Amino acid sequence: MKCIGYFLAALAFGATSYATADSSDEIAKYRQLLADGNPAELWEMRGEELWKTKAGPKNATLEQCDLGKGPGVVKGAYAELPRYFKDVNKVMDLEQRLVHCRMTLQGLTLAQATAVPFGAAGKPSLIEPMVAYITAESRGIKMSVPLSHPEEKRAYEIGKKVFFYRGGSHDFACATCHATDKQRIRLQDLPNLLNKSDAQAAYATWPAYRVSQGEVRTMQHRLNDCFRQQRFPEPVYGSDLITAVTMFLAKSAEGGVYNGPALKR
Ligand code: HEC
Repeated sequence: MKCIGYFLAALAFGATSYATADSSDEIAKYRQLLADGNPAELWEMRGEELWKTKAGPKNATLEQCDLGKGPGVVKGAYAELPRYFKDVNKVMDLEQRLVHCRMTLQGLTLAQATAVPFGAAGKPSLIEPMVAYITAESRGIKMSVPLSHPEEKRAYEIGKKVFFYRGGSHDFACATCHATDKQRIRLQDLPNLLNKSDAQAAYATWPAYRVSQGEVRTMQHRLNDCFRQQRFPEPVYGSDLITAVTMFLAKSAEGGVYNGPALKR
């Protein structure tokens, strides 16, 4: 299969590029190499299949899940998330909403619906492919997150607070690494997430197939990794904290055209 060939090329290319020092150029090169064959496509296909396959005690599919545009509408839904959901009276991001639908429609427990959020070799995640499928259905659509409901405004304000909140052993905030133009850490460019074009380029490309991990990773996975770099404890999967931060980031990226799941280092 064409995708697999690309996939192996990416791994080989990825491995050599870590050994050498030069970073962004190498990354740009393999992005181009893989421009028409992102392995994330395999996750998208698998995700669509999972979405449409009956599962759980209720033996139901997820096709009636309301991602914000009404039950059954997947197209364009991600571009408007996180948002307020009346049925739960709170703001949810995609990953939280997916857990909610698996529980309500399929009858899974919270533990079952959040099991293996991040896959590993021999232990695949059901969540990552479904997130890849749903987000891919917003490709080419402008990010436009609502901020009209008081709960949406509240989530945004909490997310903003978290972004600037300094703490931990190094007294870091998100802003320490992500609020200055052209900042770098080791060999990696750090997006200034307060700058619209940087925020759009960063946010509107997650989830992403990570060459270094050989998996599609979700927004929460990315944020968990950053909380780790900040020396903060790992957030619970599907927590409101992640939704609030995501709301803040999504708003900063507003107007950017969604272009994920992308391919990343
Ligand atoms: C110690 C520095 C550091 C801190 C603190 C930090 N990050 Fe990051 N962040 C990084 C690094 C390194 C990357 C990876 C950049 C790359 O791979 O090019 C990254 C990547 C990201 C990305 C994806 C960028 C992209 O282009 O794909 C987002 C979004 C992000 N961080 C958000 C946050 C948020 C929100 C916080 C606070 C909860 C945070 N970061 C805290 C270092 C940090």
